[in-house]
Formats: sequence, structure tokens, C-alpha cells
Amino acid sequence: MKNYVSASVLSADMLNLESEIRRLEAGGIDMLHFDVMDGVFVNNISYGLPVLEAVRKATGMTLDVHLMITDPLKYIERFADAGADYISFHVESESNTMACIDAIKKCGKKAALAVKPATPSEEIYNYLPYLDMVLVMTVEPGFGGQSFMPETVDKVRIIRQRLDKLGSEAFVEVDGGINAETAPLVRNAGANVLVSGSYLFRAENMAETARLLKEGKLV
Ligand code: DX5
Ligand code: ZN
Repeated sequence: MKNYVSASVLSADMLNLESEIRRLEAGGIDMLHFDVMDGVFVNNISYGLPVLEAVRKATGMTLDVHLMITDPLKYIERFADAGADYISFHVESESNTMACIDAIKKCGKKAALAVKPATPSEEIYNYLPYLDMVLVMTVEPGFGGQSFMPETVDKVRIIRQRLDKLGSEAFVEVDGGINAETAPLVRNAGANVLVSGSYLFRAENMAETARLLKEGKLV
């Protein structure tokens, strides 16, 4: 399965978002990871629909929207209209999980289910056949720049194995604390979409850093 890097906009220079997007495009970054927080589901507030719309107009990159909000069902259609390609929502949210998956698909978008570090993988087994991607959080959602939680690696492995058993080609995405040291661990376990915020945006050579994340030596 091909590996992808999804750049977390949370670490971008907000005042110069357009030049940041050009930097990502020039670096051959595959996707743009757009974290939406409502201050209730997580203890932080980020940005939302108008910013996504502006980003959509500015680039043809795949937009990977991560909803960290209490009632994703209420907003799925609007994020789809604003230009999302992938829509991830949390199994721990208050919305009905299957209803969210159906709503995303009805909008013609890719459906992804996100799981927090403390949530057991069993909680999402029933939904695996219907998903285009599973987002395994490798930090507690809410903030960029946190340290990777090694105990999440097993979850990545278990979910990839389950998907393989189902004959599913769904992607497994990891989010939080991904850098040159942690990327091989999650890739080894079967993750193929690596979100990177602070590590990627700090890099002097983005293209080389992305290549390292995707192809760097496995351990
Ligand atoms: C955390 C967000 C992440 C975050 C990743 O709640 O979901 O997408 O921006 O940032 P880094 O790569 O800095 O851990
Ligand atoms: Zn995220």
C-alpha cells in the first residue's frame, strides 16, 4: 500500500497560509490535514468552514478534514460543501457513528473514523467494512507538538490486520507526534497515511522530510 504524508495546517503560519500551501505543494506533500476543534470535544478551538473554503479555492491538494467536535453529524454536509475530500469524525463523539458514515458517503466524500488513544480498537470493529480510512490518534487530540504515545502502535497493527482480513483497502492514518523516529514504528504496524504538523513545518527541506517519513528505514 502506498504511503502518504498529510500536513497538519495547525502548525502552519496562519498569517501566510497561501505561501505555506505553496511550500507544501512544492515539497510534494500528498494531503492537507485540517483539524477542526469546537472547544467542547477537545480543550482547544481552531478554525472552521470559512478557512476550509478559502484553502479549497487555493489548492487542488487532497483535503483531509479531522473533526474534533461533539456533534459531527450536524456539520458533515457543510464541511463536504466547503471542499473536504476525507472527513474524519470521532467514535467518541455524540453523533451516531453509522449515520455519520452514511452522511459522508451521501456527499460523495471519503469516510474516516477516528479513535482516541484510550479507546479500545473493538469499539470500531463493526464499522470497518464501511470505512475508507481509520484515523488512529497517537496523541490525545487537541494540540499539535505533543509526544507520540508508543502504546498506540498495537492498535494500528490490530486495525490493519482486521482490515486485511476483511479484504479492505482502507487507509490507516496516524496523527500526533510523528517524526523520523516514530514514523517507522507506525509504518511497520501498517499505517500508510502519516499526519505531520510541527515536525514537517519546522523542516528546512520539506520534500526531503516527507520522503524520510514515507520511505525512511523501517525498524
Ligand atoms: C492534534 C491534531 C494533530 C496535530 C498533529 O489534536 O489532531 O493533527 O496537529 O501535530 P503534530 O504532528 O505536531 O503532533
Ligand atoms: Zn488531526
